[in-house]
Amino acid sequence: MIKIAPSILSADFSKLGEEIKAVEQAGADYIHIDVMDGHFVPNITLGPLVVQAVRPLTDLPLDVHLMIENPDQYIEAFANAGADMITVHVEASPHLHRTIQLIKKTGVKAGVVLNPATPANTIKHIIHDIDMVLLMTVNPGFGGQSFIKNVVPKIKEVRNLIDENKLDVEIEVDGGVNAETAPLCIDAGATVLVAGSAIYGKDDLKNAINAIRGV
Ligand code: DX5
Ligand code: ZN
Repeated sequence: MIKIAPSILSADFSKLGEEIKAVEQAGADYIHIDVMDGHFVPNITLGPLVVQAVRPLTDLPLDVHLMIENPDQYIEAFANAGADMITVHVEASPHLHRTIQLIKKTGVKAGVVLNPATPANTIKHIIHDIDMVLLMTVNPGFGGQSFIKNVVPKIKEVRNLIDENKLDVEIEVDGGVNAETAPLCIDAGATVLVAGSAIYGKDDLKNAINAIRGV
């Protein structure tokens, strides 16, 4: 079964608690939290304080996507705030192996994110150490952008890398995922789909989640 991770970036922040409970009741599997620093990406969102505030509101795993420079400096803070998994960008982590070890040391799951233009082979030597690969299908920074179809073959490449090594690593896809683009990701081997505007933009959250999941 495909897992769905609604991105709270598209939620109404004035009632974040209700917005999180609503997607949990509608069948979400993870809560995807987009952390942006205004340096790695051209937007600023939220930090560990918000993760800490969200933590007691849901039983769902908190999937924290760090779009920040110097992720090593903040990993412990996000883990202490209640993250269940932390993903860091290859492009922002020159010592990726060290960064992954830092995440694991805090006891949370570790994942690596690739921007649309970053090739799949950048994770070849780290794939045995991680729990998740997150493939961006938009340039990170904003919700509501269009799905970049040329990333789909990369999903297949990562699927093959995981299967060849007989590993149990999730493939998450993030950006422009909706009922039309989700099947492309699922067919290519994705196991977790992030969606912001395609869920929070709809009146019936349950229908929106089911449509993306393809049930
Ligand atoms: C983009 C974020 C995404 C974004 C997805 O930088 O990482 O998680 O919120 O939003 P949609 O689904 O609207 O593209
Ligand atoms: Zn994200």
